[in-house]
Parts: sequence; structure tokens; C-alpha cells
Amino acid sequence: MNDGGQRRYGPLGTALVIIPTYNEAENIKSIVGRVRSAVPEAHVLVADDNSPDGTGKLADELAADDDQIKVLHRKGKEGLGAAYLAGFRWGLDHGYGVLVEMDADGSHQPEELPRLLTALKGADLVLGSRWVPGGRVVNWPKSREFLSRGGSTYSRLLLDVPLRDVTGGYRAFRRETLEGLGMEEVASQGYCFQVDLAWRAVKAGFHVVEVPITFVERELGDSKMSRDIVAEALWRVTSWGVGSRVGKVLGRG
Ligand code: GDD
Ligand code: MN
Repeated sequence: MNDGGQRRYGPLGTALVIIPTYNEAENIKSIVGRVRSAVPEAHVLVADDNSPDGTGKLADELAADDDQIKVLHRKGKEGLGAAYLAGFRWGLDHGYGVLVEMDADGSHQPEELPRLLTALKGADLVLGSRWVPGGRVVNWPKSREFLSRGGSTYSRLLLDVPLRDVTGGYRAFRRETLEGLGMEEVASQGYCFQVDLAWRAVKAGFHVVEVPITFVERELGDSKMSRDIVAEALWRVTSWGVGSRVGKVLGRG
């Protein structure tokens, strides 16, 4: 329930940091190494969509030398949402207590993960947030900032989600949160997956906390953001918003 002040939270189990990858050969070694030093007790799962640039093979090499590193090889590019869902399922099946979302390109700094995990001691879900006081973005073009802020504001207003950064992808979930938010019904493939999960967590009554982060735009490799991804986000968020409003009017809200 949304009574973070009074509820008692159980201890955090072992964390699994899930890193989805598609053509991140230039970034994979550095990001995994940074996670291993920043939070040595955490495990890492690379969820690779059969990247043509060989990211999956590089991840296998890392895993061969370190049993806290695992690799989930997927057959082809199915979107960030699908990769995370598969990673979450893998993590839940293997008994992890905390599931973390992190990009491979260094935008989500592993050195900030201890702060997210500390906040999770008193929350069901922690969002790394660019748009709360103390949060910021480094090296982003104005156009991208506009898109992200706009997407967050649109989602917040339409879905009545009391969060500033609904689209962000640096997050820590307790396993019970993922088990309770209806993951099986998530159809979002692209980045609106993030809005989908945040909205479900709020609707399910989970206590969601935003922690300021510094998001650093990637230096190597390319963003996978595309027109299709924006279009999917726009139509899904709009249809969820309209659907829930109609539901409320009809008394099913
Ligand atoms: N397995 C897999 N499959 N991984 C993918 C796919 C895919 O189809 N598409 C993207 N990724 C991986 C990338 O390799 C990277 O590790 C991570 O997902 C984020 O992709 P980027 O392309 O770097 O995303 P971005 O920087 O444009 O967007 C970030 O910010 C958005 C909000 O502004 C991400 O954190 C998004 O989740 C977030 O919504
Ligand atoms: Mn990125």
C-alpha cells in the first residue's frame, strides 16, 4: 500500500542488475566492470538480442571469468521492453530479491546504484529521476530533453501518475513489486515499457520513490530511439489514459 511511512519492509535480497543490449560492443565491458566495482555483491545479467556487433560474445567472455555475471541470449531484436521482461522472469526464477534496470551505454552511472538500493530499503520501487531537484542530464541535445520532459509530463497528466520521471530507465524493484504488478499482461515493446511499469506499480498501490540521478548521454555507439518507438509510446499512453478515464466515468475505475 501507499503508506511508505508506516509499512515495514523486509530485508533486500541479492540484487540482479539487468542490462539489455543491442550493439553495445564498445560499452559492455566498461559498464559491467563498473557495476561489479560499485556494488560487488550484486549479480549482472546481460540480456542481448543477438547483436550483430558481437556484444553477446563479449558478454560470454566476461561471464566465463566471473560467476556473478550471466548472459541471456535472445534470438533477435524485440525491443527493450521484451528484453527486460525476459530478464525479470529469469531473475525471479533464480530467486533474486531485487531487480535493477540499467542501460549499457553509461547513461545510468553504476556509482549511483548504492543510493537507489538504500532508498529501496523503504520502498517497493525506486526510480532514478532526472526531473526531481538534484537530478540532471549531461550532454543531451535540447531536442531529446524536450522529448523526454514532454513524454513524462504527458504521461503524468494523462495517467494521473504522481511522478516526475515516468520514462526513465534506471530503476530498482523489489521482487514482490514485479510479482504484484501484472507483468504477464505487459505488451509494451519499446521505451513506453517504462511508463507502463511505473503506472502499473502506482495503480497496484506500491510505494514508489524517486531518487535524483545524473543521466550522462552516451559517448560510444548509437541510441536505439526511433520514430516507431515514439509512435508506440504516444498511442499506448493515449489509449491507456483514455481507457482509464472512460472506466472511471462508467464507475469501473
Ligand atoms: N536487448 C535489447 N533489445 N536491448 C535494447 C533494445 C532491444 O531491442 N533497444 C535498446 N536496447 C538497449 C540498449 O542497447 C541500451 O543498453 C539500452 O537498451 C537503452 O537504449 P538507448 O538506445 O541507449 O536508449 P536511450 O538512451 O535512447 O533511452 C534511455 O532513456 C529513455 C528515457 O529518456 C533509456 O533508458 C530508455 O529506457 C528511457 O525510456
Ligand atoms: Mn542511451
